Amino acid sequence: ATSIPADDRVPDMGKRQLMNLLLLGALSLPTAGMLIPYTYFFVPSGLGGGGGGTVAKDALGNDIVAEQWLKTHGPGDRTLSQGLKGDPTYLVVEKDKTLATYGINAVCTHLGCVVPWNQAEKKFICPCHGSQYNDQGRVVRGPAPLSLALAHCDIDDGKVIFVPWVETDFRTGDDPWWA
Ligand code: FES
Repeated sequence: ATSIPADDRVPDMGKRQLMNLLLLGALSLPTAGMLIPYTYFFVPSGLGGGGGGTVAKDALGNDIVAEQWLKTHGPGDRTLSQGLKGDPTYLVVEKDKTLATYGINAVCTHLGCVVPWNQAEKKFICPCHGSQYNDQGRVVRGPAPLSLALAHCDIDDGKVIFVPWVETDFRTGDDPWWA
């Protein structure tokens, strides 16, 4: 950003390099100090328009990048990620190889077990007391009283973002019980 006027330039490379070093030192210290609060201040508020969005994390705790995820997760895939408030949340890959615009919270609405996806049955089947949910997480067999919670799944700057779902549950037409 700082440019040295042509008249002040020194042909001698040794002196030039010293100048660069001094400049670098003068610039980078305050810059490094300012970057951290800057980043922390702007990144969270930029997500979901301040609606409390969070970046989805994979099993290793890394941010999930949509393009990379889709290279290793094919149509029909439902794989757990870390979602809102750290809840285990399924990322859904649609038949057209895009990410669904919703994620499915894996916490069983009966007593809170994490419900695995059964690819062969195309259902989520709870190992604790046998509740079943269809491929969108709608309850189809008790004792679970309610469908699995939803979260919006968006892509922001290449990363997968979950945003709280406060609208009508598209599977049942009801108000969301979890909001
Ligand atoms: Fe899932 Fe009871 S906790 S069926």
